[in-house]
Amino acid sequence: MKKNLKPALYTSLSPALLHLYDVSSSIVVIIDVLRATSTIATVLFNGAKAIIPVDSVAECIRLGKQIDAITAGERDGQIAEGLQYGNSPFEYPESFVKGKTLVLTTTNGTKLLHIALEKGAREIITGSFPNLDAVCNHLVKKNMPVILACAAWKDRVNIEDTLFAGAVISKIKDHFDIQCDSSKMAETLYNDAQPDLYEFMKAKNASHYQRLTSFGLEKDIRYALEVGSANVLPLYTGGKLVSISI
Ligand code: MLT
Repeated sequence: MKKNLKPALYTSLSPALLHLYDVSSSIVVIIDVLRATSTIATVLFNGAKAIIPVDSVAECIRLGKQIDAITAGERDGQIAEGLQYGNSPFEYPESFVKGKTLVLTTTNGTKLLHIALEKGAREIITGSFPNLDAVCNHLVKKNMPVILACAAWKDRVNIEDTLFAGAVISKIKDHFDIQCDSSKMAETLYNDAQPDLYEFMKAKNASHYQRLTSFGLEKDIRYALEVGSANVLPLYTGGKLVSISI
C-alpha cells in the first residue's frame, strides 16, 4: 500500500481547543479576521518595521513609552483607554506607519499569539483574507504539519475565523492529509458563504459583525473579508511580528 506522505492539517475552532493539537511540530496560523490579523497584515504591508503583540493595555502603554513606539489596540472592539490608536486597518496608511514599530493589544488575537508561543509552536504566522495567498503559498512550500488556529471571541467559536480556515483549506487541501471534522466543517461553511462573505455574515447576524456594525465599522468588516489587499507573510519571531519575503 502507498504510504501517505502528505503532512497533516487540523483546524482549532477556538483557543480553548488548541490543547488538543500538537503545536510543537506544526506551523500554527493565528486567525482573527475581525480584525487583529487583518490589521497586522495591513500594518506590515504598509511598511511598518515590526508589531509587538502584548497581552495587556498597561504593558502596551509601558512598552510603547520605553521604546517610543505607537501604542495600539482595542477591548471589546473599541479603542482601549490610554492607547493612541485602535485596531482598524484604516488607521495605518503607509504615510503613517512606514518604518515604525507598533505595540498592539487586542481582545482575542494577540492573546492567542501568546498562547501558541507558550505552547511551543514550531512556527507562528498570522492569516487573514487580505494575506490569504501569502499564507497558502507559504504552507504549501514548507510542506509541514499545519494547525489553523482561530482566535474566536472569548473562546466562543465565530463564523469569520471559521470562514478563513475554510478558505485556506479549499485552496491547499490537495497538499495535506486532512482527517479533521472541524476542517471539513470550515470548508463547508466557506463554500456555503460564497460568493459574498459580507452578505453571509450579515444574513447570519454574526456576533462580531453585529458588534462592529453597532460602532459604525462596516467598512472594516468589508475590507477584512476581501482577498489580497495586504499580501504579506507576518512571522512571529523573537517577540515581534515581522514581514518575511514570499
Ligand atoms: C480581537 O483581537 O478580538 C479583535 O481584533 C477585535 C476587534 O478589534 O475587532
